[in-house]
Amino acid sequence: MEDKDKKQAENLLAEAAEAGKMSYSPYSHFTVGAALLCADGEIVTAANVENRSYGLTICAERSAIVKAVSMGKREFSALAVYCGKADYPVSPCGACRQVISEFCDRDMPVYFSGKDAADRVETTVGELFPFDALDEMKNGKYSL
Ligand code: THU
Repeated sequence: MEDKDKKQAENLLAEAAEAGKMSYSPYSHFTVGAALLCADGEIVTAANVENRSYGLTICAERSAIVKAVSMGKREFSALAVYCGKADYPVSPCGACRQVISEFCDRDMPVYFSGKDAADRVETTVGELFPFDALDEMKNGKYSL
C-alpha cells in the first residue's frame, strides 16, 4: 500500500472515530462513525442513529451518504467506518452495501475497523457488493 493511501485510511478512520462520538445508540450502545471523502476533497462525517423500533435505525455509513448527497455531493473517493465498541473490524451491513453501491464506484476504497483503527480491513465497494444490479443497468444489461 502506498504511503498516501495509508495516510488516507488513517486520516479517514480518525475522522470516523471522532464522528462516532455523536452516535445516538441508546439501545445497542454500539457507537459507529463514518467518514466519506468526497471527490472535491471535503470529508463528510456521520454517526449511527437508532430508533426504538430498531428496524428504523440508520447506520453511520448510510447517514454519511445521505448527508453528503443532501449537501449536493455526488462523487466520492473513499469511505471509512469506525466501530469503537468492537474488538475486531465490523463490516458494513447489507443495506449499507446497497446504498454505498448506488453512489460509489466499484473500485472505491472502503476501510473499516473496530476500536483499534490500526487493525483495519481495506477493501473496495466491488468486493463488498460483487453482484450489483445498478452496475448491470449502467452496462445496458437491463433498464427500469
Ligand atoms: N451499525 C452501523 O452504524 N454500521 C455498521 O457498519 C454496523 C452496525 C450500527 C447499527 C446499530 O445502531 C448498531 O450499529 C448495532 O448494530
